Amino acid sequence: MKIMVIGGGGREHAIIKKIKENKSVEKIYALPGNGGIARDAECFPIKATDIDGIIEFAKKYRPDYSIVAQDDPLAAGCVDSLESIGIPSFGPKAEAAIIESSKVFSKDLMKKYNIPTAKYEVFDNVYTALGYLDDAPIPTVIKVDGLALGKGVVIAETREEAKNAVKEIMEDHKFGKSGDRIVIEEFLEGPEVSVLSFTDSKTVVPMISSMDHKRAGDGDTGLNTGGMGAIAPNPYYTKEVAEKCMREIFLPTIEAMNAEGRPFKGCLYFGLMLTENGPKVIEYNCRFGDPEAQVVLPLLKSDLLNIMQAVTEERLADEEIEWYDESACCIVAASDGYPAKYEKGYEITIPDDVWENVFVAGAISEDGKLVTSGGRVLGVTARAGNLQEAIEATYGLLDTIEFGNKYYRVDIGQKALKALK
Ligand code: AMP
Ligand code: GLY
Repeated sequence: MKIMVIGGGGREHAIIKKIKENKSVEKIYALPGNGGIARDAECFPIKATDIDGIIEFAKKYRPDYSIVAQDDPLAAGCVDSLESIGIPSFGPKAEAAIIESSKVFSKDLMKKYNIPTAKYEVFDNVYTALGYLDDAPIPTVIKVDGLALGKGVVIAETREEAKNAVKEIMEDHKFGKSGDRIVIEEFLEGPEVSVLSFTDSKTVVPMISSMDHKRAGDGDTGLNTGGMGAIAPNPYYTKEVAEKCMREIFLPTIEAMNAEGRPFKGCLYFGLMLTENGPKVIEYNCRFGDPEAQVVLPLLKSDLLNIMQAVTEERLADEEIEWYDESACCIVAASDGYPAKYEKGYEITIPDDVWENVFVAGAISEDGKLVTSGGRVLGVTARAGNLQEAIEATYGLLDTIEFGNKYYRVDIGQKALKALK
């Protein structure tokens, strides 16, 4: 089989390495892929957001199956377009991808179907929003409606900060049209859990839970990033919590999307906060999380491609999905300065026997060398019998990888270890 994967980050590399385990896969095309993915797939310089380019490529190369891994092509209808030319694909259609691409849609969906989430108000007028902030409870949370590369959330500790954020979003158009509407919501507290799930709109199968580390600095300080590391399973996500989430959140969400005429097929990501009043949804994503995919997929024992095809063909209920009874840790090595200003263009060296644990994100191939080209350069993942061992093994592997201005957090997994004690 020939498989096409749309995207070019660590998540896509993790997906590609996993589907390579399937014996029927002869060829993988990655659009655009990256310098590291090129070791495992044939890369073509077509952007994940270039739907016309992707369709042209697909007509020429006729992949048997495609996996759309990134949020913006999903929101732009990439799966709809691929299916219209007869290429079965993993990922939701645009009508369902809206669960991530519009915060207003997802908040209204949760309200309508009684799915627990933070209380909120929607604004499309800057003066009304500023007026509301005069007596809103503080801290408060401001979210832009549309996609914003994971940067569209502001936790405001003071009224002034909240008002400034609203002005930047709605008057200065910091996020362009994504900020034409905003959500202002209640500030919640509690441990966060990421639960990725497979769903074919009839059945929902949660994957192993995980914990992201969003801030750039140790001890959860500094700017928000795309994610600096992850661990799985998440110790806060007990069997009781999992059962409650299935009953109150996962199944109701799938049913709500069906009731709205927007059946969701693909990977539905539940970003949860375990509050004093029970688990609540912080966000939905319409795809695998990154770096979460880099710890969850290595723990998957079953064949990923078979599961994905079962999702597409709406026969997920018949799939046996097995997991390794182990822990995994992923540490992201970034270019120092990320997510603000950073330098790139440094050569990366990775020992041959470490490559199988590496998922490359921001690197290109130049004269046969791998060279840094982005903020998050790569992720390293190790699996072990327990979390402590997985963390130690991962830091050990990371030490063997070198590149200029390499930066990483030294405390990935520590919060989870404390929770275990
Ligand atoms: P998001 O980009 O939606 O994942 O949000 C980024 C981060 O902001 C989340 O991982 C949470 O840590 C935090 N956050 C989002 N919404 C809330 C909320 N209502 N209360 C407290 N923290 C929040
Ligand atoms: N790690 C969070 C995300 O993928 O959105």
